Amino acid sequence: MTDIQPVFFNPLEEGYAESPWGHFDELRRNEPVHFSLLGQWFLFRYDDVSALLRDPNQSVEDANITHHNEDRLAQFRAGFGEDAEPSTSMLGRDAPDHTRLRRLVSKAFTPAAIAALRPVIEELVDEALNTMDERGTTEIVHDLAFPLPFDVISVMLGMPEADKDQVAAWSSAIVKTLDPIISDEEIFAAAEADEKMSSLLDEVIAWKRANPADDLLTALIQAEEDGDRLSARELRDQVSLLFVAGHETTVNLIGTGIYELLRDPKQAKILRDNPSLDVNAVDELLRFVSPVQFSRRITTSDINVDGYSIDKGSVVLTGLASANRDPAKWGDDAERIDVQRTGTAQHVSFGSGSHYCLGSSLARLEAQVAIGRFLRRFPDAKIVSEAEWNGRINLRGVERLELSVH
Ligand code: HEM
Repeated sequence: MTDIQPVFFNPLEEGYAESPWGHFDELRRNEPVHFSLLGQWFLFRYDDVSALLRDPNQSVEDANITHHNEDRLAQFRAGFGEDAEPSTSMLGRDAPDHTRLRRLVSKAFTPAAIAALRPVIEELVDEALNTMDERGTTEIVHDLAFPLPFDVISVMLGMPEADKDQVAAWSSAIVKTLDPIISDEEIFAAAEADEKMSSLLDEVIAWKRANPADDLLTALIQAEEDGDRLSARELRDQVSLLFVAGHETTVNLIGTGIYELLRDPKQAKILRDNPSLDVNAVDELLRFVSPVQFSRRITTSDINVDGYSIDKGSVVLTGLASANRDPAKWGDDAERIDVQRTGTAQHVSFGSGSHYCLGSSLARLEAQVAIGRFLRRFPDAKIVSEAEWNGRINLRGVERLELSVH
């Protein structure tokens, strides 16, 4: 008799929030294409993940789901209402709508436009570091990892001053819906936060119409006013996506990236001594940390992945984080940071294919400046208490991390 135990993907298991990596390793080895009790398929190997993400025939639109997890569907309907329209953001649209929306927004993300933000980013980072220097301690997520990407996306969009803590609480509730498991309370909190965020953005858009400026929000409003290329609803949903994606992900790269480097003093020293490694090191941290752990596709035909048949209309969560640690791709040291690793930019942290993250250069630049400057300014920085994790399955990261900096 064989003694093979069935493997389950259970992100609610104790210890998962602190370290999902052992779970991924087990699934990669035993059931890399996994139909979960959550009613969704999961892919855990690099080759399968990147092939599905790049497959132009697959969809991201809810309307193509025919194999629903009925419990999850009922939860969402109870929270958001029976007739709630799905978001029209580009992340949930297929071509040709996706192509049109992405083209409009892309104009703000040209290499020149991102490079022009460097002085803004440097100033924000230096201000944060000066405060830490004076105090001698920091809670790095609160002082740097969260406010930096939040302020940068606010500047790009041209948002008026907002109540940062309030908006942070709403977006935190909203991104919970990206997790494969969510409680009823979390659904209701997400729906309430979504409504409040939408009203805030409606007010901001109305204000911006009356006060146009040289910013992304004004450019998108003009695209909407110029004809039918962007409806009012689409305008709000793209702004909402940019605003939330602009900070809820990069916070994890900077906060968790600094945490992981401080736990690996040899790698931190190599990076501290070699600023020319900033670019490669941030990609290695993207690989190692995976600020977004899963991305979703919906099958538009029956497909075969690695010998497993997946029906048309199924939800497939591609395990970006697992793919980023797959030894078949990265070798035996996949579970270690190596800031000099060659080819590390082939990670799938930004997804792949037509939905590849539009903000990738901005996120990289923010992290290069923040992490590089932090390490060099505070060579003696130390972790002084246990990190607290945000408890999210998808946008996983450190939520609180106390450091001494001298
Ligand atoms: C470390 C930071 C970030 C990570 C790890 C990340 C990750 C991702 C991932 C995994 C996707 C989906 C890709 C796919 O399914 O193939 C995505 C899409 C997207 N991201 Fe990011 N992101 C980050 C930062 C940002 C920033 C700073 C912005 C904007 C300011 C942004 C804007 C977007 C947009 C607009 C999309 C949708 C693209 C599309 O559907 O065509 N992201 N991102």
